[in-house]
Formats: sequence, C-alpha cells, structure tokens
Amino acid sequence: MEPLWCVFLLVLLLREDADSSQSPQIDPLVYDEQLLWVGGGAGEVNTYRIPLLTFTPRGSLLAFSEARKHSSGDIGAKFIALRRSTDKGATWSPTYFIVDDGSLEDGLNLGSVVVDEQTGCVLLVYSLCFHRYHCSPSSTMLVESLDDGLTWSRPRNLSEQLGVKSFAPGPGFGIQKRYDPAKGRLVVCGHGTLEGNGVFCVLSDDHGRTWRYGAALKSIPYNQPKKSLDFNPDECQPVELQDGSILINVRNQNNYHCRCRMVVRSLDGGETLPVDELLFDHTLIDPMVAAGALQKEGVLYFSNPANSTDRINMTLRWSLTDGRSWEDEALQIWQGPSGYSSMTTLVGDSVEDKKYIFIIYEKGHRESVETISLAKVHLYGGR
Ligand SMILES: *[C@@H]1O[C@H](CO)[C@@H](O)[C@H](O)[C@H]1NC(C)=O
Ligand SMILES: *[C@@H]1O[C@H](CO)[C@@H](O)[C@H](O)[C@H]1NC(C)=O
Ligand SMILES: *[C@@H]1O[C@H](CO)[C@@H](O)[C@H](O)[C@H]1NC(C)=O
Repeated sequence: MEPLWCVFLLVLLLREDADSSQSPQIDPLVYDEQLLWVGGGAGEVNTYRIPLLTFTPRGSLLAFSEARKHSSGDIGAKFIALRRSTDKGATWSPTYFIVDDGSLEDGLNLGSVVVDEQTGCVLLVYSLCFHRYHCSPSSTMLVESLDDGLTWSRPRNLSEQLGVKSFAPGPGFGIQKRYDPAKGRLVVCGHGTLEGNGVFCVLSDDHGRTWRYGAALKSIPYNQPKKSLDFNPDECQPVELQDGSILINVRNQNNYHCRCRMVVRSLDGGETLPVDELLFDHTLIDPMVAAGALQKEGVLYFSNPANSTDRINMTLRWSLTDGRSWEDEALQIWQGPSGYSSMTTLVGDSVEDKKYIFIIYEKGHRESVETISLAKVHLYGGR
C-alpha cells in the first residue's frame, strides 16, 4: 500500500499547488469614479483632453492632461495640468499647471509618462510644435520630478539628441523594462506625422539622460499623403509582457484591414518591430482613437470606446493569454461619448494594491471631450 499512498499524496500536493498558483477569477467592477477635470468653465481653460495616468514608486497616483486654453483643437496654446493622489485615488490635489507653452501657434501635445523605479524619478515626455502650424521646427521635450510629482524640472529639449522629426509620444505611459532583454531601459513609443507617420520608440539606457531612436513601424506609403485604408500606424501604448517582449497596441488610423486595433511586438527591448510580429486584433474594434493597455500579474487589460465608428461605449477587456484571446465578458464603464483612455496600477505588495486598476478617460454626455474622469476598478467583484 505504501507506494500507492505516496502517489496519492503527490497528487494531492500537485493539485494544491495548481490551485494556489491560480489567481482569483477576474470579475471587474467600477468601485469608485470621479471627474478630475471639467472643461468649458469660466476659467483660463477651454477644454481638458489627452489624459495620462501613472503610479509612482512611493505609491501615489499622478494624473496629467492637456489644458487647452482657447479651444478644443489639437493646435493652440496649452498648459500641462497635473493632479496627485496620495491615498490610492480617494482624494486628489487641486490642479497644478506644471508647463505653460506661452502663446505658441502650435503649442505642446501630450505625451508619455514613464517611471524609473530604480531612481524613483517620474519623467514626462511631450512634443512642441508637433503640427508645425506657424512654427518650426518640432521639438521633443522632457520634464522630470524627483519628489513624487510635487516639483518639476525645467523643460529639457531632447531634440538636441533626437533631432527635430515630429514625434508625438503615447499618449499614455512609457515603460521601464523589468525583464531582459535590456532590463532597466526606458522605452517611450509614439507616432510621427508630416515627415512620415508610423510607430517610433525612443530609448534611454541611462535613466533618461540620453535618448536615441530605436524601433520603427513605418506607414505605407511612407512620407507620402495617405488615402483611406492605407497602412497608417498611429498613437500607441506599449506594455511589457512577462517574457520580456514589448507588446504595442496601436491606433489603426486609416482602418487598414479592419476597423480594429493593430498589435505589434518587439522581441529585442524596443530596437525593432518586425512585420512578422504585427497582427490585427478583430476582437478589439475601434473608432480610430488612443486606447489604454496594461499588464498586471500576467493579465492584459485593454480600454477603449468599443465601437467601430463612434467614440462611445468606454469598455474594459481582459486577456489571460497575453492578448492572443480575450475573455467573452467585458466591463462597460460608460455607455455614452468617451474618447482617449489610459490605465495604471499601484505596484506595492499590499493586498489593496493587487486588487485595483485605475482608468482615466475622456467622458461626456453630448461629446467625449466634456470632462476627464477617473474610474477605480476592483478586479475581483468587490471581494
Ligand atoms: C530644440 O533643439 C532643436 C535642435 O537643436 C532646435 O532646433 C529647437 O529649436 C529646440 N527647441 C526649443 C523649444 O528650444
Ligand atoms: C459596447 O461594447 C460591447 C462590448 O464590446 C458590445 O457588445 C456592444 O455592442 C457595444 N455597444 C455599442 C453601442 O457600441
Ligand atoms: C456603434 O454605435 C452606433 C450608435 O452610435 C450603433 O448604432 C452601432 O450598433 C454600434 N456598433 C457596434 C459594433 O456596437
């Protein structure tokens, strides 16, 4: 009987092992939601757009947006607006304007926020004069904070290293590689126009001191005017998967192949984006917009207005297979007008930090650009 008993024990042990390694069932619900910015007021800001969100190494949340001074248009004078939360999104500081572009005809555009967890530094990369509307050249700029977002450096001109190609980072977050290859590297991806659209990533291997261009996925025809249905990769959000590859979820600007998201993967730390690694995700239908993506504990999350023509129906989806398939259920966050979105999560070891993700998005009743809202999502059905 002895050998059998051993086998029986072993089976029990194995089963227990399998059970404990399984994460609880993902069953998201909106736990709390509040408006961070409302445009159209009597103040000095006409419209808030392009929300970004990040964690900090000290466990705070930072929310950024473009405060468009005179109109809702992409071109024109702006501030970068910031609000901080030091209590996991329950309450938020007043708005601080951390950058003012003066009265440029074609002002600043956000942007990618990237956290260097090794130095504790939060870096924010944005563009100036991206559209070259009555100004020239275009510049890629950086501000950074060493004190959890309380104070910010003067803007640094990365175009001295990168050149003056129009480069619009994100919008969303950049990443610091947690796994090899290129562990520790900062990777900020964005898109270009005028001199050629496509997805481009800029890389720093010294905590943001020096930057260079890495991977590119160029539009076709490159450097030429586009037609409807041409291949035109645009705004994008990179995430690192647990195998060290970088998955980039991309706006399919001209609806090439589908009215859905493009996804491309870099296997070498952001140096290249091979066409072999490009696919079209027919589950992720999309009205040509900037969407959110996030990897947390092996689960990939995706947020966008899930409709193929209209910016409505802000929806959260999740994948247990790194995006090869998506769970059938989805969480509708707002059925009405909704636009750009970005996600983050706190990275502490507390039970609390494991339970939530945060989604910031453009939300309105008649138009998506009326407000910017922050939803705190409980991943396990409130349990
Ligand atoms: C940034 O640097 C580039 C290259 O030296 C320069 O052409 C551009 O005018 C600079 N931009 C700003 C805002 O100073
Ligand atoms: C909203 O998204 C869900 C999930 O993708 C989808 O089933 C539904 O048809 C969408 N509704 C509208 C009005 O787009
Ligand atoms: C997209 O939204 C429109 C309403 O604006 C609706 O008629 C249509 O069915 C939606 N599409 C999908 C795929 O849900």
